[in-house]
Amino acid sequence: MSDLIEGYLGKTVEGKKSRLPAKLDFIQSFTGGFLALFMWAHMLLVASILVSKDFMYTVTKLLEGSFIFEGGNPLLVSLVAAVIFVIFIVHAALGMRKLPGNFKQFQVMKAHAKSMGHDDTKLWFTQAFTGFAMFFLGSVHIYVILTHSDKIGPMASSDRVWSEYMWPLYILLLLAVEFHGTIGLYRLCVKWGWFDGENPKATRKALKKVKWALTVFFLVLGFASLAAYMKIGMENAKNGTVGERYQPTAKVIEFNITNKSVGRIA
Ligand code: HEM
Repeated sequence: MSDLIEGYLGKTVEGKKSRLPAKLDFIQSFTGGFLALFMWAHMLLVASILVSKDFMYTVTKLLEGSFIFEGGNPLLVSLVAAVIFVIFIVHAALGMRKLPGNFKQFQVMKAHAKSMGHDDTKLWFTQAFTGFAMFFLGSVHIYVILTHSDKIGPMASSDRVWSEYMWPLYILLLLAVEFHGTIGLYRLCVKWGWFDGENPKATRKALKKVKWALTVFFLVLGFASLAAYMKIGMENAKNGTVGERYQPTAKVIEFNITNKSVGRIA
């Protein structure tokens, strides 16, 4: 069936009714939900440094598949990073559809949001801003990890954070990702009516509280982890040990031998 559609530059054009926008919306929701949950796991794994260097070393080895390959294989991490990168790009490309195309559109949206005085509409601006920032910040990080997956570990990661100046990028990325991820999950719940129950209004209020609690939790965890990597990186720079790999303690070597993961040192 054909339809009259407001086209580019305001010209009216003939077009077909299509289910494509709904399908794209679904893919955007799915990739967003997946990335947000991936980030929770990611932040918990990165935070392993808060337990001990040995623990972060062991986590790194397990993620390199040390229970399958002797000594672990960082290619496995590169492979996962490549898949995440593709999902990240698809999600960002679909998100672009929602950004205003010119200043006039932006003004209209801003005036509209202001006149409604509706908090959830204001959240849209935070999503657009943090999403835009992540285009650049997230791409740099994922590419660096993808191409240097053999340099992850208590010493190597700390050197990257401090001596290779990743910490300013991580501060901005951490802020962007923690707001974007939890707001995104909240919006998914509202959009698709998950947990609506008897009283959707009350649910929305409760969801907002959970959203804030999660943002604060992951920001505190993230900044504490970042501080730990920066501290180790600074010590390495002071002691002239930048570039040296971590030597696990005897206890960890024993654990790794039983799990087939001796070999490369992280
Ligand atoms: C498979 C993909 C990924 C891997 C293997 C990975 C790995 C890592 C590692 C090892 C660190 C510790 C610092 C370092 O070694 O440089 C780190 C930090 C970080 N990553 Fe990722 N990352 C991945 C994807 C992402 C994505 C998609 C994002 C968000 C767009 C992200 C955001 C961050 C942030 C914000 C930090 C700093 C966190 C902190 O220090 O508290 N990462 N990542």
